[in-house]
Amino acid sequence: MKIACLGGGPAGLYFAISMKLRDAAHDITVFERNRPDDTFGWGVVFSDETFDNITANDPVSAAAIRAHFAYWDDIAVHYRGQREVSGGHGFSGIARKKLLMLLQDRARELGVALRFQTEIASAGELAENFDIVVAADGLNSKTRAEFAQHFKPAIDTRKNKFVWLGTHQKFDDAFTFIFERTEHGWIWAHAYQFDADTATFIVECSEATWQKFGFGTMSQEETCRTCERIFAKYLGGHALISNASHIRGSAWLNFPRVLCEKWSYRNIVLMGDAAATAHFSIGSGTKLAMESAVAMADLLHTQPTLQAAFVKYEDARRTEVLRLQSAARNSMEWFEDVERYLHLDPVQFNYSLLTRSQRISHENLRLRDKEWLEGAEAWFQRLAGADANTMRRPMFAPFQLRDMRLKNRVVVSPMAQYKAVDGCPTDWHLVHYGERAKGGAGLVCIEMTCVSAEGRITPGCTGMYAPTHEAAWKRIVDFVHAETDAKICCQLGHSGGKGSTQLGWEDMDAPLREGNWPVMAASATAWSGRNQRARAMDRADMDRVRDQFVAAAQMAARADFDMLEIHCAHGYLLSSFITPLTNLRTDEYGGSLENRMRYPLEIFRAVRAVWPAEKPISVRISATDWVGAKGIESRDAVEISRLLQEAGVDICDVSAGQTSVDAQPVYGRMFQTPFSDRIRNETGMATMAVGNIFEPDHVNSILMAGRADLVCLARPHLADPYWTLHAAAKLGDRGETWPQPYYPGRDLLYRLSGSGEAAVVAV
Ligand SMILES: Cc1cc2nc3c(=O)[nH]c(=O)nc-3n(C[C@H](O)[C@H](O)[C@H](O)COP(=O)(O)OP(=O)(O)OC[C@H]3O[C@@H](n4cnc5c(N)ncnc54)[C@H](O)[C@@H]3O)c2cc1C
Ligand SMILES: Cc1cc2nc3c(=O)[nH]c(=O)nc-3n(C[C@H](O)[C@H](O)[C@H](O)COP(=O)(O)O)c2cc1C
Repeated sequence: MKIACLGGGPAGLYFAISMKLRDAAHDITVFERNRPDDTFGWGVVFSDETFDNITANDPVSAAAIRAHFAYWDDIAVHYRGQREVSGGHGFSGIARKKLLMLLQDRARELGVALRFQTEIASAGELAENFDIVVAADGLNSKTRAEFAQHFKPAIDTRKNKFVWLGTHQKFDDAFTFIFERTEHGWIWAHAYQFDADTATFIVECSEATWQKFGFGTMSQEETCRTCERIFAKYLGGHALISNASHIRGSAWLNFPRVLCEKWSYRNIVLMGDAAATAHFSIGSGTKLAMESAVAMADLLHTQPTLQAAFVKYEDARRTEVLRLQSAARNSMEWFEDVERYLHLDPVQFNYSLLTRSQRISHENLRLRDKEWLEGAEAWFQRLAGADANTMRRPMFAPFQLRDMRLKNRVVVSPMAQYKAVDGCPTDWHLVHYGERAKGGAGLVCIEMTCVSAEGRITPGCTGMYAPTHEAAWKRIVDFVHAETDAKICCQLGHSGGKGSTQLGWEDMDAPLREGNWPVMAASATAWSGRNQRARAMDRADMDRVRDQFVAAAQMAARADFDMLEIHCAHGYLLSSFITPLTNLRTDEYGGSLENRMRYPLEIFRAVRAVWPAEKPISVRISATDWVGAKGIESRDAVEISRLLQEAGVDICDVSAGQTSVDAQPVYGRMFQTPFSDRIRNETGMATMAVGNIFEPDHVNSILMAGRADLVCLARPHLADPYWTLHAAAKLGDRGETWPQPYYPGRDLLYRLSGSGEAAVVAV
């Protein structure tokens, strides 16, 4: 095959090498606009595992590259005058220039023609004279632009500013992050050694800080001198150096996140940064480029046609690229939002930084550096007022809200059972909640319990509006208190416009087949085309419902619940006031967020006044409507939480969605946790996270990183009432209390977990 590689970066050169290794007869030319030893930037990083793939493809170039690696195992974080170091991370660095020179040598040795100082004006024209053109022309790919209508690139220019500098100061003992507070805001550096006497020193900050420093109008020299002053105490008198002479002006950049919808067109295929970028904070761009080169070379030798190879290449690489891009996005956004975390204690800040891409889990950190993680866990326990020597996971730390002390951080999330009779809980509820309280969670939250008959969602929903309800709930609460050390929370709500609907396992949210009752909401809206239009509440309705909430809270207090939660989420009555999608009111309860919050806050204040002062109240919110700017978004959720906090709400239970049939949720593991993270770290309010959290590892990492104070699990507790006790057994934790009659079962489980046979237990 006659092959042109457009671009002599890692992708182009490594593709040429990989093709020659598979068939020496290929006629391959690499076209590169620069000279052989011109390059931007400084060093690149590989992780240990990346390099195994590269070694398998070409042991010769791998050995040459490895011979020039600078290795380090530790990550050091300078923050608030402390240096936190954790180990076991296994990275290596090499000068980009050295890497390219070694790849050039290897390519030459294999018979690849290298044409330097050759600018290619059009990949389309080049393609006429070659069987295949690999467009590895980098981040600002001209080829991508030339055929933009085919490749359909999405380019997202990110908000932070960064500049890639170098220094002869040594950072040879650890990959180092330095966070400095300046008169113009926070600014930070990512520093790593890549050869005997040079280190990369990437400086990054927010646009606001960058503006205040006036970096935009500085020459590269001036940028270096200013950054030297900022980071003087880490540079040991060494200069910062720029080698970006090819970039005009200041050399500061905004990172462009690139992803092309199509990667090939005719006989042209995009590779490396031209097709998709990662982010420098996870150091995977070169890895991605080189691995794509190997994949393409393989496919060109195993697929029957060029087009078949292109199709497979895109299929195979896209998944890997999306996986990396998702990690890169998490990492990039962490740095974009870093000011949110700059109040954290250095231990927690470091943990948050290390787990930012969500690729490193809590137990994975233990494998990397047991001692560091145990130190962090001890810090967490101490902060929670527990004995730090017990070496327990964060999920087993106690938590205090007013006088209520929870034994651990796991919450059974409220879940409607649809088994009530005329609002009255039955033996089903006694057994159901009793089992969950026995199962080890620190807090069991009962289902949305409605303040009136018309406020029920379905005829099977529980209520708190009759003496019989109060008595039935008291029986359940008494059982929980007598037989377990779990606490029990009563979730009070009113269904609003989503009321008078079928049971959860029937046609959910659809009107009843018969016996519908009239519903009311903030405004005269209907949940969907199938549902009845709600009556807009007038002041008399509002007074009545407020009084119903108060009466229900008084019953809950007499039933001896430990905590109350007011349901202001999921499109029910109070949620219908908060979201602009359903609140169309023109009075003082509609319009601005402050107005839309007025009625839910009125309810809270009235309830708070009758609820025992020593007992806490939480409010559950939908932190996003998942409909974009026309609904609630996470920044509104921060404002909502501030208002709740000011009113005296003790903790915000951060759920999301279910407020609109048009919602487009983005599902995934722990998908709602970022809302809790944002609220907790921007307002300082305690939060509960919920949503697709199912592994003990998820719970521990959320808590340890300070993304929530409590973690709610709903469906996992339907699958396993003993989720917490099973998790403890699996993790080797022996500190959780089992019900006495179950001790023989506990001992069996401990033995099985100890002998590695714990697979019989579903956790
Ligand atoms: C600040 C920063 C730090 C980074 N740190 C790391 C890291 O630590 N680890 C890591 O793995 N990656 C890192 N990267 C990313 C990495 O540099 C790229 O992902 C990688 O170089 C991509 O390789 P490539 O071959 O696709 O593109 P490039 O390396 O950009 O190569 C493209 C080549 O094409 C040439 N070219 C372009 N257009 C033409 C034309 N019309 N005619 C002729 N030649 C042309 C260019 O001169 C260039 O040499 C970093 C990137 C940045 C911005
Ligand atoms: C069967 C079922 C019933 C639910 N009922 C309620 C409820 O009464 N009140 C409430 O706030 N959330 C309710 N939810 C939502 C859960 O509390 C939780 O927020 C959601 O299921 C996401 O958590 P998960 O991924 O752990 O299941 C219910 C969820 C399920 C699965």
